[in-house]
Amino acid sequence: MKLWGGRFEKDTDREMQDFHASIHFDWRLYEEDIRGSIAHVTMLARQGIITNEEKEKIIGALTEILEEIKAGKVDFSPEAEDIHLNIETLLIKKIGDVAKKVHTGRSRNDQVALDTRLYVKKEGTAIIALIKELQETLINLAEGHLNTIMPGYTHLQRAQPVTLAHHLLAYFWMFDRDRSRFYDCLKRADKSPLGAGALAGTTLPLDRELVSELLGFSGVCENSLDAVSDRDYILEFLFAASTTMMHLSRFSEEIVLWNSKEFSFVEIDDRYATGSSMMPQKKNPDAAELIRGKTGRVYGNLMAVLTMMKGLPLAYNKDMQEDKEPLFDTVDTLKGSLRVFTGMLKTIKFNREAMYKAALKGFLNATDLAEYLVEKGVPFREAHRITGELVLKAEKSGRELLELFLDELKEMSPLIEEDIYEKLKIENVLAKRKLPGGPAPQAVIEQLRYAREALAK
Ligand code: ARG
Repeated sequence: MKLWGGRFEKDTDREMQDFHASIHFDWRLYEEDIRGSIAHVTMLARQGIITNEEKEKIIGALTEILEEIKAGKVDFSPEAEDIHLNIETLLIKKIGDVAKKVHTGRSRNDQVALDTRLYVKKEGTAIIALIKELQETLINLAEGHLNTIMPGYTHLQRAQPVTLAHHLLAYFWMFDRDRSRFYDCLKRADKSPLGAGALAGTTLPLDRELVSELLGFSGVCENSLDAVSDRDYILEFLFAASTTMMHLSRFSEEIVLWNSKEFSFVEIDDRYATGSSMMPQKKNPDAAELIRGKTGRVYGNLMAVLTMMKGLPLAYNKDMQEDKEPLFDTVDTLKGSLRVFTGMLKTIKFNREAMYKAALKGFLNATDLAEYLVEKGVPFREAHRITGELVLKAEKSGRELLELFLDELKEMSPLIEEDIYEKLKIENVLAKRKLPGGPAPQAVIEQLRYAREALAK
């Protein structure tokens, strides 16, 4: 008979049975579920609701069940619906009637909220560590490329020179905010819902604070209805994951571009590339493409849970069982993406030569010519026009600004002197961009210091 079967006269329909069972995915919460039950019965004994002997028996059996599950010795059963009832059923099989006390003063509604909160805390912490490793990789790479000049782009058009270090550190800061978004989410997930019962607590004298302490929470949920019906800690997690995937995806898109013959800025290591079944010459950037592609499903998971939650009256509704697959899938996808991306980055080869060559063509020093004139008192808008006309002249004759003769330059503005040729050299153009946050090596050294500080925090 079902653990909740008392008021039923008929068996559950077969289709219905399979349809509502969640054990095929929520088995993943077994460790959290058992930890929660151990804390719960410890408290029940302290409060004199069960005896110490009963507590010992239950905890002993739960610990065995945990080991058995870990060893792959347990066959979960769809008849027992979900992980909570599966474990309770296993417990009853092991120790009989005393096991029937484990659920005293508890509902699966506060139990599942507890399990998912613990799970979010565990996986959030693991993800924070993976993001940190990626950030360390970026810092290490940046240190070696302070003087690796490359074009900076807007509209994917060459714009102004930057360095590879500066470009890599741009991502460092995005991932730093991602890390702090996960920390934020963990802070708000850090409250214990146990004791909320199904929705309105229990008449039994539970000690909610004790359970919260035993499980390492910072406190208890203040409202029993909120405790069982809120899933914002999952939504925040899914949003933080989506944003991290978005950043990984943009970076991946750049790696795909840079790895093309057209750019040739990087070469992805064999270990992170794949071949074609037909074209023998191919070496494809599959890791980066897959991460870019998988970003879609992570967004989808966020939208699925947001939409699932939007019309639910308080308190628990079975709809909320649908929060788990998106959560698990997001955890797997994000962790996999972070690991593979970091590995790919650690082994990638940067082609300094190609980056430098690209930075020499495409008028990346045009703004500098305009600003040269500004320093001589020309209003910026006028300097902009003069430079624009010089660019046009150079382009028409297939030259760069540095290849124009002094009299051609003077024709447009007599204020231009011989020193312009030194000033417009790409190294000097870069070195001059030394405001805080700028790409000049001098400024990037400073930025690296902030980055290391941020990582140590
Ligand atoms: N498997 C359920 C879920 O994931 C657990 C809570 C079920 N509660 C209930 N009253 N049916 O949401």
